[in-house]
Amino acid sequence: PAKITTQTVVDMKQRGEKISMLTAYDYTMAQIIDQAGIEIILVGDSASNVMAGHDTTVPMTLDHMIYHASCVVRGVDRALVIADLPFMSYQVTTKEALISAGRMMKEAGAHAVKLEGGKPIVETVKRIVEAGIPVMGHLGLTPQSIYKFGTYKVRATEEQEAEDLIQDAKLLEEAGCFSIVLEKIPAQLAARVSEELSIPTIGIGAGPECDGQVLVLHDMLGLNKEFNPRFLRRYADLNSVMTEAVQHYIKDVKDKDFPNKDEQYGG
Ligand code: KIV
Ligand code: NA
Repeated sequence: PAKITTQTVVDMKQRGEKISMLTAYDYTMAQIIDQAGIEIILVGDSASNVMAGHDTTVPMTLDHMIYHASCVVRGVDRALVIADLPFMSYQVTTKEALISAGRMMKEAGAHAVKLEGGKPIVETVKRIVEAGIPVMGHLGLTPQSIYKFGTYKVRATEEQEAEDLIQDAKLLEEAGCFSIVLEKIPAQLAARVSEELSIPTIGIGAGPECDGQVLVLHDMLGLNKEFNPRFLRRYADLNSVMTEAVQHYIKDVKDKDFPNKDEQYGG
């Protein structure tokens, strides 16, 4: 099957075909979701939560992200692989951001990078795009700024904040972003942004009118039991599947049922 490019997803918006995106952080999972036909794989800095067990995405380093992205890239034949630039790998100077984005492309083999924020990073986005690196934006709930906001509540519920978000989205489009993630904002606002932009919006907790949707793989597979936001739909209960498999194995070992004669070597 033909490889998905940034142009493919822009064309999908034009055709009105919804874009599917999921996260992955390792080779095996990436291979499964790529072969299942997902269009975009995001190597999210949510790796900080689901892979490393941190409470926030703040501790994630660029080296960690490059490692995860390189693992994912090796498992993928078709999907577009986008990697998050982690907190403080692109905010200090544009020069540092370019170096970080360049490392993600060269060392990990990612196809694009994602950066959080609007106006303050617009010049940086321009320079990264000019250097030949596609950029996805990320507005609304931006988890790298959790210590500024203090909560993971829905964003842009006030008039001014909503207007600012629309402005930021337009600035990111002008700066050359090929797509923007809209996280946890009112559905009507996400619909308006999606309508006003010609690049695709990818929603998470942003209603049905976005041009595509994204979920964290571990959440949609039901590996986490404690995380239950309204926007999350679970497509499997892998937590129970794994728990039962492991308990069955433990029992078989204790009962001397495993390994049996067919599962041992002779000679
Ligand atoms: O890190 C992540 O998983 C993300 C998505 C939720 C958009 O940024
Ligand atoms: Na992220």
